[in-house]
Amino acid sequence: MSWRHAPATERNREPILAVLQRVLPEMGLLLEIASGTGEHAAFMSPRLSPSLIWQPSDANPGALTDIDGHVRDAGCTRVRPAIVLDVCAAVWPIAAADVIFCCNMIHIAPWAAAEGLFTGGTRLLPAGAPLILYGPFKRHGVHTAPSNESFDQGLKTQDARWGVRCLDTEVVPLAARSGFTLEEIVTMPANNLTIVFRRNTTETF
Ligand SMILES: C[S@@+](CC[C@H](N)C(=O)[O-])C[C@H]1O[C@@H](n2cnc3c(N)ncnc32)[C@H](O)[C@@H]1O
Repeated sequence: MSWRHAPATERNREPILAVLQRVLPEMGLLLEIASGTGEHAAFMSPRLSPSLIWQPSDANPGALTDIDGHVRDAGCTRVRPAIVLDVCAAVWPIAAADVIFCCNMIHIAPWAAAEGLFTGGTRLLPAGAPLILYGPFKRHGVHTAPSNESFDQGLKTQDARWGVRCLDTEVVPLAARSGFTLEEIVTMPANNLTIVFRRNTTETF
């Protein structure tokens, strides 16, 4: 059986993994939002701490077969069966997590998805837990590369509600309102960023 394949995951998985290996806790439950094909879960989980359990999810029920297929083919033992999770839903099918990890979603979805992601993070994560984003971002309202600008235009052509978000004027303020502090911005290949937020230890929102 062949599962859906996202070629970009083969290019970005090593650099993203390097960040995860550095910032993730040794144990606990990692909730992956918008797992897509599941190739990040299948590649990364076996390379992380054996006490870290990976929970893949996606809003698209059709993605679950691909995610579980890639995970099974990779022989992963620490990945749970994928679940349907729409970040915009008021109730999520999981009550708690120790990490939230989300690649390439907030620009390929309405802004409400970014809001839902942080609202869910506020509900699920304990104080000090990381919420990690990966993708293209504008900085201070400006695209960081011509390729990101044309990508942004293409997204908006597909759906006017989509688009590359500004880290400084949109995402960090949303995170702050939701009780998360920006900890680290990691420059990645192909003009992408990995962003590490941490759930505040005291409620400042
Ligand atoms: C470009 S794919 C990214 C997949 C994977 N994370 C990657 O980097 O290859 C975007 C994914 O976001 C999911 N998605 C879109 N809106 C969502 C939502 N509201 N809640 C959860 N997932 C969503 C889509 O179903 C799709 O699988």
